[in-house]
Amino acid sequence: MATNRTFTMIKPDAVENGHIGAIIEKIQTAGFKIVAMKYTQLSEADAKAFYEVHKERPFYGELVAFMSRGPIVAAVLEKDNAVEDFRTLIGATNPEEAAEGTIRKLFATSLSENAVHGSDSDENAAIESNFHFSGREIYA
Ligand code: TYD
Repeated sequence: MATNRTFTMIKPDAVENGHIGAIIEKIQTAGFKIVAMKYTQLSEADAKAFYEVHKERPFYGELVAFMSRGPIVAAVLEKDNAVEDFRTLIGATNPEEAAEGTIRKLFATSLSENAVHGSDSDENAAIESNFHFSGREIYA
């Protein structure tokens, strides 16, 4: 995968609260091109595997339960400097610390239910995109 891509999920809280459209609008207005997208749901096993890096953290159980409790929107996004620019667009992990105008500031519920995921490196963007999408589901 090219390094100008990142991976995102609109998390269950934001889907439940009716924010899918507003979040996609923010993403596109910020200059990201959607190259793959699906409305789906993580099983408990999927959520455990996706967040395995956090398995020793105290919040892991809560995170897995949250991420598998309802539908999500998964997407692959393309833009120059995608990973870093998308992290800036979504804001800090804790919405109380997120900058004004960021997606988490606008739409997150709490630290644990923070509306969106954004990959933290090019390597993880590729791993996470491949977790959710086959090659032919990603627009070349
Ligand atoms: P992390 O990878 O640290 O944050 P980010 O999503 O900003 O890259 O953590 C993954 C998710 O775990 C985070 O989005 C929300 C949840 N989380 C908690 O519930 N409690 C916490 O104390 C932390 C650090 C994260």
